[in-house]
Amino acid sequence: LKSLKEAYQNYFPIGNIMEVRDLEDDYNTAEMFKHHFNVMTPENAMKPDQISKAKDQYDFTAADKLVDWALNNGIALHAHTLVWHSQSAAWLNTGEAANRATASENMKNYIETVAGHYKGRATTWDVVNEAFANAGEGFDGSDWRTALRKDSPWYIAYANNNTKSSKTLTEDPSDYIYDAYVLARKTDPNAILYYNDYNEEIPAKRDAIALMVMALNQRWLTDDNYDGRLLIEGIGMQSHYWGDSFDAFLVDEALATFVATGAKVSISEVDMPVGAWNNQHNGKKLTKEEETQQAVNYAKLFALYKKYAKFIGRVTIWGKGDDQSWRASGMPLLFDNSFTAKEAYYAVLEPEKYL
Ligand code: G3I
Repeated sequence: LKSLKEAYQNYFPIGNIMEVRDLEDDYNTAEMFKHHFNVMTPENAMKPDQISKAKDQYDFTAADKLVDWALNNGIALHAHTLVWHSQSAAWLNTGEAANRATASENMKNYIETVAGHYKGRATTWDVVNEAFANAGEGFDGSDWRTALRKDSPWYIAYANNNTKSSKTLTEDPSDYIYDAYVLARKTDPNAILYYNDYNEEIPAKRDAIALMVMALNQRWLTDDNYDGRLLIEGIGMQSHYWGDSFDAFLVDEALATFVATGAKVSISEVDMPVGAWNNQHNGKKLTKEEETQQAVNYAKLFALYKKYAKFIGRVTIWGKGDDQSWRASGMPLLFDNSFTAKEAYYAVLEPEKYL
């Protein structure tokens, strides 16, 4: 089967996710990965709840296995993720740590330890993941902070013990985002720092994120640590779509909006289930029509990625065989359970043929 990374070698790296069990299974998953992909995101192993169960306790065993395997095989590491409301570590920002002083000190400890551990090995980092509300709710059209997820433990902790008005950019709960990027830059100056989120084709969410990236990059210009580079150098579009609601026009607009911020864009977690949200295909053989609908959607996406290739850092698919996907019931990937290529694979290989 033609290798995807070779098919895209003149455009951008092509990635996928790995779990430690993939290195040890009976399906030659690791070989399949090496054939098609040249950048790896650990699906779960590098999230705070996996790396740090308690303050001053860090366990890199699982993540290191994946990273060593990747780097030994010429596969780049995209590291995921440092600051997130989900799969986080409770000690960082809840309970006794649910205040600005403690949470920011714990963030420093966490980022220095974890980004420090992977210094020189991570090409790119998702520093902050999913800081914005699900679908752009709350956005007032001009202040990106109005669109933030206010129930994130990071936001709540930073809002506690606020000494100044939250109207100023110098001390408000959203500062946790800026702090995270400055800490990551100082810890691993060569890594390219990304902001990563989903539903970014929705105009309100898209615009709030673009404004945030520009605002924090502007704030960085007068920071004592300023090093001549952008602070947030990349925007990750997770790209978890739905077959029946997928709108390529909105994706095109989002790519254009993000590129205009001056940041690189990476497609960080793409998958495209067949049909509707509540479809339960669960490994059933797809009808010819379903296979084709999914393939055409993938073709539309990859045609756009080629169009913006100059600005794209990587395109990562969130899973290898359908049954391993977090949304397995929608059979959203390029390969079936036994890694036989679906029509979607051929559409990614040659999108032009499907449009
Ligand atoms: O680690 C525990 C294990 O100890 C326990 O025995 C087992 C029992 O269920 O659960 C394990 O945790 C699971 C974890 O994956 C690791 O395998 C969680 O239940 C499960 O919910 C978790 O799902 C992951 C999900 O993130 C969690 O939010 C998916 O595998 C992963 O694909 C998904 O990835 C996220 C990205 O990080 C961010 N963007 C959205 C994307 C999809 O949700």
